[in-house]
Amino acid sequence: MNDTVVILDYGSQYTQLIARKIRECNVHSIILPYNYSEKIVKKYNVKGIVLSGGPSSVYENNAPFLPKNIFNYNVPILGICYGFQLLVNHFNGIVESSTKAEYGNANINISSDSELLKGVDKVSNVWMSHGDQVQNVPENWEVTSKSDNNIISSSENYSLKLFGVQFHPEVYHTTKGSNMINNYLFNICKTDKNWTPDNFINQTVENIRKTVKNNNVICALSGGVDSTVVGTLMKKAIGNQAICTFIDHGLLRKDESKEVLDIYNKHLKLDVQLYNKSHEFLSALDGIKDPESKRKIIGAQFIEEFEKIADKFNNIKFLAQGTLYPDVIESGGHANLADKIKSHHNVGGLPEKMNFTLIEPLNELFKDEVREIGRSLNIPEKFLMRHPFPGPGLGIRIIGEITKERLQILRKADNIFINILHNSNEYNKIWQAFCVLLPLKTVGVMGDKRTYENIICLRMVTSIDGMTADWYDLSKEILKLCSNRIVNEVKGVNRVILDITSKPPGTIEWE
Ligand code: XMP
Repeated sequence: MNDTVVILDYGSQYTQLIARKIRECNVHSIILPYNYSEKIVKKYNVKGIVLSGGPSSVYENNAPFLPKNIFNYNVPILGICYGFQLLVNHFNGIVESSTKAEYGNANINISSDSELLKGVDKVSNVWMSHGDQVQNVPENWEVTSKSDNNIISSSENYSLKLFGVQFHPEVYHTTKGSNMINNYLFNICKTDKNWTPDNFINQTVENIRKTVKNNNVICALSGGVDSTVVGTLMKKAIGNQAICTFIDHGLLRKDESKEVLDIYNKHLKLDVQLYNKSHEFLSALDGIKDPESKRKIIGAQFIEEFEKIADKFNNIKFLAQGTLYPDVIESGGHANLADKIKSHHNVGGLPEKMNFTLIEPLNELFKDEVREIGRSLNIPEKFLMRHPFPGPGLGIRIIGEITKERLQILRKADNIFINILHNSNEYNKIWQAFCVLLPLKTVGVMGDKRTYENIICLRMVTSIDGMTADWYDLSKEILKLCSNRIVNEVKGVNRVILDITSKPPGTIEWE
């Protein structure tokens, strides 16, 4: 079993980043709510626990607490910001509301040979984001650094293997943050570096075989990177017991089903069967405008179709799909932790009763980790670099009612937009780009004639894992080309607009 570092989430905007930083050091990490269930933790070989930061104050009523049993694991604990304050408070130190709140860049002055701060410059730049501060450390704790404002910025009780930092080592702006995380993992927790793509593949293949035994599995391929990696893993693990299916729900992009099938069957030899179910999906969506209803209907229809397909084969007990870690988190997978934002069709949109057991081999991974696994599985680079495409497809990019005509309009516009991005070498610089069709018409003038037509919005974002995103600043010349070509070539569109919203507060998709 891999060594694991557990991160308890107290609501910091940087919690994900802690997990990623640890994994980048080839150590497995997992985020759990602070009020985690011990049953989950038992699945892992826990070598360290990190307490994340968070917006609360230890003195607030109902402030998120420090679970008492975390000391039973007898592993080094690193508290970051609020996590640090929780430790201090627990051991009877003093946390106070700060007179000098520190946000952003700050200098710390290191005053000890702390194992955690080994190799870090004595005066070092860090990223602070706190209101409360540690006034007095508990008995037998050593102050290891203070900020220029004379605020305690790190402290530890080395014999109890308890460490706390007021700043955020996981944030890029903490110049030697990676150094500190390395020290924590390898010098203090003594973890192994065994979180690598090849290890992941071997372990996953082994787990799939153990779970599936003699049964068959339906692998739901969507044309995206995640499900393709899942399909390839399943084929590797169980060969013909993996029945790879690709359902065309009628919400795909121009020529997508043909292009994807070529790659699946000619390049990857996945032996994928195409099922054209456009009619079924579009009928189920007829007249539906509400985003959550659309997602739920598409999710339910997928399962219905999979069940019909399964009836044609024997012993199908499982459905494999490419759910990623952010999907689990955003669908409120961690109780009490994340607000449900959207029902991702491959998680929250599934009906309660389902005749399959789900296999989700990627549900602890971030997107870029999946791409790394894909590289190790020899999936072509061009395919791996395809932008993510959501399970509900164009269904959530047509705002309001979905009709064949509106699908036609969106497909044409999107195809023009994406081709321009490829031709101008912009595609690979962007995490995701697509067009959205609005449920509004506006007046225009073309060839001296009044028009009253649809609006297409261009959406382009940069991101690391889809959890946060920024809009991509495409040059004015290329934007102009997109706008001209879409308005001139797509019948039914007379206006093109640009979405310049980051996530948060927006989401990447519009529905
Ligand atoms: P949002 O819109 O939530 O999207 O900011 C984050 C990322 O997730 C993709 N997405 C989905 N992927 N099924 C999927 O497989 C879904 O239901 C779904 N909804 C959103 C979205 O395209 C973006 O990459």
